[in-house]
Amino acid sequence: MPGIILLGTQWGDEGKGRITDLLAANMDMVIRFQGGNNAGHTVIAGNEEFRLHHIPSGILYPSTICVIGNGVVINPGVLIEELERLSRKEIRTDNLRISGNAHLVMPYHIVIDKAGENILGKSKIGTTHKGIGPVYADKAYRSGIRVQDLLDLKIFRAKLEESLKLKNSIIKNVYGLEPLKTEEIFENYKGFVKTIGKYITDTSFLVNKYLDEKKFVLFEGAQGTLLDIDHGTYPFVTSSPTIAGGACTGAGVGPKKIDEIIGVAKAYTTRVGSGPFPTEINEGIGDILREKGHEFGTTTGRPRRCGWLDIPILKYSIMLNSIDSIALTKLDVLSGLDEIKICTSYEYEGRIYEDIPPHQTIIHKCKPVYITMKGWKEDITAVKDFSDLPDTTKYYISEIERLIKVPLSLISVGPERSQIIIRDRGFKENILRKNKKPLLVL
Ligand code: GDP
Ligand code: IMO
Ligand code: MG
Repeated sequence: MPGIILLGTQWGDEGKGRITDLLAANMDMVIRFQGGNNAGHTVIAGNEEFRLHHIPSGILYPSTICVIGNGVVINPGVLIEELERLSRKEIRTDNLRISGNAHLVMPYHIVIDKAGENILGKSKIGTTHKGIGPVYADKAYRSGIRVQDLLDLKIFRAKLEESLKLKNSIIKNVYGLEPLKTEEIFENYKGFVKTIGKYITDTSFLVNKYLDEKKFVLFEGAQGTLLDIDHGTYPFVTSSPTIAGGACTGAGVGPKKIDEIIGVAKAYTTRVGSGPFPTEINEGIGDILREKGHEFGTTTGRPRRCGWLDIPILKYSIMLNSIDSIALTKLDVLSGLDEIKICTSYEYEGRIYEDIPPHQTIIHKCKPVYITMKGWKEDITAVKDFSDLPDTTKYYISEIERLIKVPLSLISVGPERSQIIIRDRGFKENILRKNKKPLLVL
C-alpha cells in the first residue's frame, strides 16, 4: 500500500514537477488530484524541457500509468495540445487515464474569470485566467459539466444549453461582452471526444486496485499549501484543496491508504499573483533571485515575486499536511550571495508570532523577523553528496531542519535529473523500510 503524496508547501512553483519526474521512474502510477491548467510543472530530461499543465509529471516513463483524477478540472483543447506536444517529442501517451468525474473547463469559465478580474481592478486575485475559479464554482453549485458527459452528447448538449442561458446573461448584462454561441462550443467539444474518449475511465477503482496490489502510487499536487481554498491566504488562493487531504477526495482513496507525504519547498520563497507575502523583497536580492532562478511563471510567463525562506509558512504546511520529509529545491540559486536570511517569526504591534497569525490583516502587515547567516560563493550544481557541500551551505540546511523539525530528504541543486542530493535520513530510509524497494533509482 505505498501511497505517497507529493505537494507544494509554499505558494506553488516549488519544483513539484521536477521531483515527481525523479520519483516517477519507480512508480507504477502518478495521479494528479486537483487544479487544472493553472498548474505549470517543468520537467527537464536530457536536452528536452517539458511544461506540463494537465498531464502528470510521470508521463515520460511509458510503464508508469498517469491519471488525471476526479478532483482535476480539464480544458480538453489544452489537454489535446499537450498530448500533441508530447507526441511530437516522441513521448508515448497511451499510459494516460482520465476520470469521467473530472469537471470540464468551458469557454464561458475563461471569459468570466478574465472579466471578473478586470472588474476587481486593483483588488484582483491575479488568477491565471484559465477559468479555474468559475469551473470549481459551477462544480459546487452543481451546474458543472463533467468529462463523462462528453460520452453522451445529448446530455452534454442539454447541460451546455442550460448553463449558457445563465452564463450568457452574466457575460452580456454584467460584463457587457459578446454572448457565446451554443453551436460553436458544442461542435468544438464534440470534436475533442475523438482524441480523449479512449482515455476516460473510472479512475478511483483503478487507483484503489493499484494500492491494494501494493503497487507504488504517487499523488502529484498542483499549486501549493498557501494557495489552498480553505487554509491558504484567502481570497488570494486557487479554488481547490491543495493539501494532502485533497489527494484523498481528488483521487477517490481513503486516508489510510497514504503512507508517506513529501513536501516540496524552494530554498527561498516565490509567489505569482496578488496577496500577502511577508518575506517578499521588492528589489535588490529579490531581482537577483528572479533572474538567477528564472522566476517567471510556467503557465503565464508573469514575473514571480521573490523573497527569503519563511519558516512559519513551512511549519504551517508541515502541520496541515502531516509532512514526513521535505524535498528542498533551487538551493543552487542562493550561491554567490554574501548573506542569506531565514524568517523565523513575524512581528506585529510589538507581539511576536512564531506561527501563521490567525488574522489575515496581521499577515498583510507583519514584519518578518530574520536570522542572518553567511552565504557561500561555491557553485554547488554538480554536488551529489551532502558531505561535499560547503560548510556554510550545510549550516543553512541544518538551520532549516532545526527550525522545522522535519528532515530534508532530497536537495535539488539544479533542474536536471542528475542534480539531486539524496540524504540517507528521512525519506530514503522510511520508504525503504516500508516498501523494501528503493524509491529512487538514478
Ligand atoms: P512546479 O509548478 O512546482 O512544478 O514548479 P515549476 O516547474 O513551475 O517551477 C520550478 C522551476 O524551477 C522550473 O523551471 C524547474 O526547471 C526549475 N528547477 C527545479 N528545481 C531546480 C533546482 O534545484 N535548481 C534550479 N536552478 N532550477 C530548478
Ligand atoms: P503550480 O502547480 C503558482 C495562483 C495564481 C493566483 C491564484 C489563483 O505550477 O505550482 P487561479 O488561476 O488558480 O484561479 O489563480 O493562484 N496560482 C499559481 N501560482 N503556481 C501555480 O501552479 C498556480 N496556480 C495558480 O497566480 O495568484
Ligand atoms: Mg509551476
